[in-house]
Amino acid sequence: MKKNRILSGVQPSGDLHIGNYLGAIKNFVKFQNQYECLFCVVDLHAITVWQNPSVMLHQTRKVISAFIASGIDPNKNTLFAQSDVPHHTQLAWIFSCVARMGWLNRMTQFKDKAGKDKENVSVGLFTYPTLMAADILIYLATHVPVGEDQKQHLELTRDIAQKFNNDFNTSFFPLPEPLILGNGKRVMSLRDGSKKMSKSDPSDYSRIMLTDTIDQISNKIKKAKTDSHPISDNLEDIKNRLEAHNLISIFASLNDKEVSSVLNEYSGKDFSYFKKDLIELIVEKISPIGKEISKLMQDLNYIDNVLLRGKENSTILADSILSKVYEIIGLKKR
Ligand code: TYM
Repeated sequence: MKKNRILSGVQPSGDLHIGNYLGAIKNFVKFQNQYECLFCVVDLHAITVWQNPSVMLHQTRKVISAFIASGIDPNKNTLFAQSDVPHHTQLAWIFSCVARMGWLNRMTQFKDKAGKDKENVSVGLFTYPTLMAADILIYLATHVPVGEDQKQHLELTRDIAQKFNNDFNTSFFPLPEPLILGNGKRVMSLRDGSKKMSKSDPSDYSRIMLTDTIDQISNKIKKAKTDSHPISDNLEDIKNRLEAHNLISIFASLNDKEVSSVLNEYSGKDFSYFKKDLIELIVEKISPIGKEISKLMQDLNYIDNVLLRGKENSTILADSILSKVYEIIGLKKR
């Protein structure tokens, strides 16, 4: 039986927020003992929109630090940068010849990011999901832990794997399973409960960063939008109150509880009361990660060593898999 293998990626396009942590990294930590794991800083995905070259390496190191600070063991897992393993882009080209225009045209993330300016965004932003499929399939990964916003990209990855297998009469690529789990799978903006918490939101108050100070956490939660009604223990009622539901879900996710049990605990209380406990909980769970990120960033030799080992491990694996792909499609074995 084939070994279960995880690949997941995080863009170094800015510091990470609790959406990245609760939707993805917290699950990486959980899965590291059950699967063989590769966690990738997807710097080539980040440059689909312009990035300042002078901070790219710093941001990549910071994501690696965030992985380690959150509890991912760099000695047991492969942590690496996408641009260090050229096989990703080589396979992405092959996949861009397998994927259909119609499939990419349906990607909602492209539509959201391109907005009305579709003619002016990069070609890379459009073909982004073929590179993502390559990130996963260059390691024959079987499972991919991600937040809910990546679901459609994972479906496309499965479609590409399936079409490749059909086109070349093989069962070479697995159809990777998304692992989209828990109350943190879609953390929303603290300013607008209908919008996803995002690095690109212009308002700092829309998100809690992993490196926020206690004062920043406290101010952001105090200012977080809610409504004037007390918390009710009726789940359906809370689901319709988007900002209220978001704060309760963040609390539940940080504490590994069900939303319904948090509602029972706080039923009848108003949000000023709940927010005090939420601030305490975020400070307890997130501040140590932020402090550890800052500490790790003082020792760049250590981080660069992790990246180097990650590059070596992932290259060995990617190299043998790409050779087999070349053979399957009738290109010369290199
Ligand atoms: P990125 O860098 O936007 O986000 C990294 C991870 O964080 C999750 N996430 C969230 N989860 C819950 N609530 C939120 N508000 C939130 N915001 C972000 C994302 O779902 C993701 O799991 N395309 C990917 C990167 C990527 C990738 C891959 C992922 C490239 N190649 C291969 C998995 C496998 C992205 O832009 O993630």
